[in-house]
Amino acid sequence: MRRAGGALSRRRFVGMAAGAAAAAAGGLPLVASCGDPQEPAGPGARSPLARPEDLPASGAVLIASHGRPASAEGRPSAAWLYNGALPGPTLRARRGDTATIRFRNWLFDASIVHWHGLVVPAHADGHPRDAIEREADYDYEFPLVQRAGTFWYHPHAHQRTAEQVHRGLAGFFIVTDDEEDALGLPSGAEEVLLMLQDRDADLSAAYAYGTDATDSMHGILRGTPYGNGIRLPTLAVAGRRYRFRVLNASHARVYRLALDTGAPLTLIGNDGGLLPAPVPVSAVDLGVGERIDFVVDFGGVPAGRRLMLKSLPFSVPGSAGPWPQGMEMDLLDLVRVGGAGAPPPPLPGVLSTVPPLGAPAAERTFEFQSTADAGMHRINGLSFDMERVDVEVPFGQVERWSFRNDSALPHPVHLHGTHFQVAARQGGRGMVLPWEAGWKDTVLVMPQETVDVLVRFDAYRGLFLLHCHNLQHEDMGMMLNVDVR
Ligand code: C2O
Ligand code: CU
Ligand code: CU
Repeated sequence: MRRAGGALSRRRFVGMAAGAAAAAAGGLPLVASCGDPQEPAGPGARSPLARPEDLPASGAVLIASHGRPASAEGRPSAAWLYNGALPGPTLRARRGDTATIRFRNWLFDASIVHWHGLVVPAHADGHPRDAIEREADYDYEFPLVQRAGTFWYHPHAHQRTAEQVHRGLAGFFIVTDDEEDALGLPSGAEEVLLMLQDRDADLSAAYAYGTDATDSMHGILRGTPYGNGIRLPTLAVAGRRYRFRVLNASHARVYRLALDTGAPLTLIGNDGGLLPAPVPVSAVDLGVGERIDFVVDFGGVPAGRRLMLKSLPFSVPGSAGPWPQGMEMDLLDLVRVGGAGAPPPPLPGVLSTVPPLGAPAAERTFEFQSTADAGMHRINGLSFDMERVDVEVPFGQVERWSFRNDSALPHPVHLHGTHFQVAARQGGRGMVLPWEAGWKDTVLVMPQETVDVLVRFDAYRGLFLLHCHNLQHEDMGMMLNVDVR
């Protein structure tokens, strides 16, 4: 039985104590630790994928401030960063731990941190009502009540999310547990964290922010892939099995991930943690906010060979412009180096157990509407009001929610406060896809699709959010308050 844990531990204080407290917290990496800049590379050249620093989630301090991401290529434009890095530090915790995190806002802007995919008490969820001003702190304390998985954190202040994420504020949050440890999945150097974003090809414009009418409708789509803040990344892999935890932290971009060789990606996890069983697929769709966790064995790949993790082309008829939704992209260049290790034991045939949520006691429909008139992005005709309660859900009740998209734009639909099970898809891709098994917190609803999910809030009561994770849509109204009572 999961229960709301811990007393509310939340303090706001302003001003002079901030610097001293930061020093006391000790050892903060205020500059990214990716080594010294090397020779600037040519425009098409690739740079090594950087590995974000780990930071235990108990006793962590996260400072949002202005800075410049590390780059081997030269001097990127000014950015907004957590602890001076993009991605911010990878927060790590085990199930059953308590996270205690001090968020310190040194931006010239209001902000608050949301732990995307973590089931936390409402006061720790980063609701826009809780945003703090410059030089204030917000103290988070919450137990890790959920399964192992790949989660992330990013800002969530009212109408400030798009700019703040775009300027560089985002990081991974990894939870481990005994169930996952027992599987012997690849770890250490064979565990790759990859945060995907599409940005301007020009490093000096990569973190600049401004939107025109097209951006306001579609979200910001750009033509150049960045991985962990590195433009056109490359990664050397040995002849071993690797685990890739991929996060789509883009503004609006949907990826269709695949290897250029056609070799399968063996899916093992997604938003809510492990899948019931490994599933080999040739490609995976990944909407903004979604994560996918897959294994690739490079044992059979000859040394010196290169593979490309790509986004395959697909068509979204409503999307035009120089870098349309669905354009082909070369995301991560993989270079096979070194010798082959001993062949690994086969992956376990069963990874986890996902009990079905069962028959719903209520049904609700949510229409995700994008139009060219003022207001633009709405759900059921409503534009977000952070003080208005839109949906009241009884605690512990199983419900069936239909997400309908009759607009011409993809809407990655995200829910806070719990995970859901994808039950059906009509229209468009027409089925529940293999990467949508298990527990999800974000589901991609393409134009003309209706996706049904089963949902139950059984951890915490309070105010949570349902919204589209296209960052423009989210900031421009496509969000509702869900009150669990
Ligand atoms: Cu990833 Cu409400 O957010
Ligand atoms: Cu979230
Ligand atoms: Cu949307």
